[in-house]
Parts: sequence; C-alpha cells; structure tokens
Amino acid sequence: MDNEIDLGQIDINSEPPIEEPARQYYFMAKCREWVREFERKNGRRPCFFTQTFGCQMNAKDSEKLAGILEAVGFLEADGEDADFVLYNTCTVRENANQRVYGRLGQLGVLKKKRPWMLIALCGCMMQEKEVIKKLKASYPFVDLIFGTHNIFQLAELLFRCLDQQKPVVEVWEETDKIVEKLPAQRKYSFKSGVNIMFGCNNFCSYCIVPYVRGRERSRSPQEIIREIKALAADGVVEVMLLGQNVNSYGKTLDKPVSFARLLEEVEQVEGIKRIRFMTSHPKDLSDELIEVMSRSVKVCPHLHLPLQSGSSRILKQMNRKYTKEQYLALAEKIKEAVPGISLTTDIIVGFPGETEEDFLETLDVVEKVSFDSAFTFIYSKRTGTPAAAMADQVPYDVVKERFDRLLKRVQEISAKALSRHLHTVQEVLAEEVNTHDGRLITGRLGNNTLVHFPGGPKLIGSVVSVSLDEFKGFYYMGNLKE
Ligand code: 5AD
Ligand code: SF4
Repeated sequence: MDNEIDLGQIDINSEPPIEEPARQYYFMAKCREWVREFERKNGRRPCFFTQTFGCQMNAKDSEKLAGILEAVGFLEADGEDADFVLYNTCTVRENANQRVYGRLGQLGVLKKKRPWMLIALCGCMMQEKEVIKKLKASYPFVDLIFGTHNIFQLAELLFRCLDQQKPVVEVWEETDKIVEKLPAQRKYSFKSGVNIMFGCNNFCSYCIVPYVRGRERSRSPQEIIREIKALAADGVVEVMLLGQNVNSYGKTLDKPVSFARLLEEVEQVEGIKRIRFMTSHPKDLSDELIEVMSRSVKVCPHLHLPLQSGSSRILKQMNRKYTKEQYLALAEKIKEAVPGISLTTDIIVGFPGETEEDFLETLDVVEKVSFDSAFTFIYSKRTGTPAAAMADQVPYDVVKERFDRLLKRVQEISAKALSRHLHTVQEVLAEEVNTHDGRLITGRLGNNTLVHFPGGPKLIGSVVSVSLDEFKGFYYMGNLKE
C-alpha cells in the first residue's frame, strides 16, 4: 500500500534517483534522518500543522502533503505553534489571497518567538508571479515556497531547505507529469476524495484556475481503480472523484475513456457503496453520463452543475459555451432521468457588464431549477484573466444589493426543495458524532443532505436506514429504522 513505503530500504548515501516516485522516497528517507536527529537533540519528534484554503482539490492535496510528513516521522499538531507550518493556498477570489496574507502576518509574529520554526507556502496562489514578488519583499521569513505542479516534491524541497539553511522557492510554470504512489493521510476513515484529473482547459473568462492549475491531465483508469480498491480494502465506503471538469475526463489519455465508463468501472469495486464526483461543466455533460447515473445504484443522486449566470449574453462573455435555455433543458433532462436528484450550483454576481435584466435572468433560472443549494459569489477581478480587462466593471454597491437578493431567494428555495424527503425513510451514511450533542450522529443522504439522529459512534462509517421525521431548514432530524 502507498502508505507503507519501506524507507529503511533506501540507501541515502547514494545519489538521488532521477525517476519518480523513487526520487521522492529517497528524499523522504533523508528527511526521516533529519527528524531522528531532531528527536535526539530535543527529546521529542518535530510536529507539523497544515492549513488548507479553497476547494476539495486543495483539501486532497493537503492530505498528500500530510501523508508525506507523517511518513517521515513528523507528528501532526492542531495549531500554528508547530515546528513546520504549511499553508496550502487558494487564489480563486481575491479574499482567499487576503486571508493568506492576514494569517501570514500573524505567523511572522509567532516566528519571532519561535525562530526555529519553518514556514512553507504552496498551492494556487504561489503560481502567480506578483504573489511571489510580494512574499519576497514583505514576508522574508517564509522558508519554502512551491506551486501546484510540483506539490509532489515536498520531501525533496523540505530537505533542500533544511540542508542549505536558506529559503527555497521552486514554482514550475507547467507540467505534464502525474506522480503516482506517494503516501496520503486520510481525514476520514470511511470516505475519501480521489483525483481523477488535474488542471482545466476551459478558460472561463473570469477564472484564474487554468492559469494556476495548468492544462487538463487525466490519471489512467488503472491507477484510479488501483487506488479505489486499496481504499475499499482499508474500509472506505464512499469516494468522491475529483477534477475541475470531470466530464472531460479521459480525453487526453493515450486510450481515451469517457467519464461515464470510468464511473461504471468504479461501480464494480467491491466495498464501495457510494460514488460522488465534482465538478461538472454543463457543456460537457453527456447523455451517456445521465444514463449511467439513472441506472447506477452506487452513484449518488447529486449533481453539482455550476450555472455561473442565467443570462445567455453574460454566459457568452464568460466563455461558458451554453445558453440559459440549454442549461434549463439539461437540468430538466437530468431531473427526469434521475427522479429526486439533488441539483446544486455555483453562481457569480456582478460579472463585468451585468445589468439588472441579466441578473433577473439568473434569478429566473434559480426559480425554475429550484436548486437544493447554491454557492453564490461576488465577482472578483483576477489579474491576467480576460474579464479583468473588460469595461463596465459593476460598482460594488450594485453587486452587493443583487448578491443579497439572490442569497435570500436561494435560501428560501433551497429550504423548500430540501424538505421534499420529509416523512420518508432514506439510507444515510453515518459520518460523525454530532458536534453539539454527543447523543446524536450526523450523517448524509445520498443527495448530500445532512441528517442528525440518535445513535452511538459504532455506527460511523456504515450506511443505515433513517426515517426523516422533522425538517429544520437545511437538515433533517431523524430516527434509526430497523
Ligand atoms: N470571481 C468570483 N467567483 C469565481 N469563481 C471562479 N472564479 C471567480 C471569480 N473570479 C467561482 C465560480 C466557480 C467557483 C469554484 O468559484 O462560481 O464555479
Ligand atoms: Fe474555472 Fe471554468 Fe475551469 Fe471551472 S471550468 S475551473 S470556472 S475555467
């Protein structure tokens, strides 16, 4: 298994291998030596703390980073007073960047009191040249910086940093590499994200992701299935297949495979009970996928289908490649094929040139589709994207007023839509002991809705039948059924 690499077998006095992942195993063994030395000197093992900003892809990356650190002997701390602090950053909206700078400022103060601390930054924000300039000028206490494309190099870069006793900055502009078989920590024992592809080729005009995550690259189906089988053997019952645009999975493989075929293969893996995936682009959502979803027992009846705007005019400016009518028709088709399916979405308010009429079109789609939930965002200007250079940036007060109106409507509609399963019995994956009331277990329906019900921790990780007795706005209270 990936988490059981025998570092003791590696000759760390030889030259480092060129090939991956052998090269990283070699540097993991080198870091392990450093960890042992630290332990001899300090009478304790060094500890690390990671903070993840942003999406599920970043959360998955952080599990890989933590997996590497644990494999070399670091212990995980639950706060920044650690020996090694690593922020995995996001840059999708400006406020994500601001949060990182804010936290970093505090970390600088902490480092004055704890000068041996190592501070590292990685992830999407590091792919921006302006950010690196600013970090070098204003945050010189950062020891290690790397980007999204060389995240697998953590052990090598950390070792370089420790060995040279000076800051290391290594950010690649792009890559066509996918390094397999590195360790990963898992936040939950019973569910796990699984990367199926990296990068994005869509270049929606507002979005910085294609610039910081690079071109689309799919993992081979064999590697994906190998990983999922290993997860199932380790007690995982739910997998979330991750990619910026899973519907174009497999197009760039030597032997192209569709996302729908991949789902069918995942469905065959014994022990896996639930399959989720994220994110789908409406323009690439195939009839084949709808068909697989309609007949599959394991693929959850939930589809996150970002709308972004309901105005065909704005959608064109956004380079989304579908119209309002096409989106509505697609939503209808899916609802018919998969009765009871939960549709959720992302919406941006205040894209350049958005008029009140355009905004009303967005509200109209929200009414017509009746989303179970919608993530709503205020447009954020990202340097280097085509939209940043567009005329007619909408004034903030206008955007804020629209945003509040949208949010209110989204919440009302979602409360009504989510209540449709009241007084039915549903299968629920028991996920954790309720954080407010230890007598309750919190779980999720296949469509992702939260349910709280009386039960003990032994249930965690199992799928149980629960009657949904009370609806509380966005979650249910229920009771176990025999
Ligand atoms: N401003 C606001 N929201 C954005 N998103 C992506 N780029 C921007 C931006 N510049 C939103 C989209 C996407 C989600 C992950 O983030 O709605 O689906
Ligand atoms: Fe960004 Fe569009 Fe790619 Fe999603 S599909 S990551 S919004 S460019």
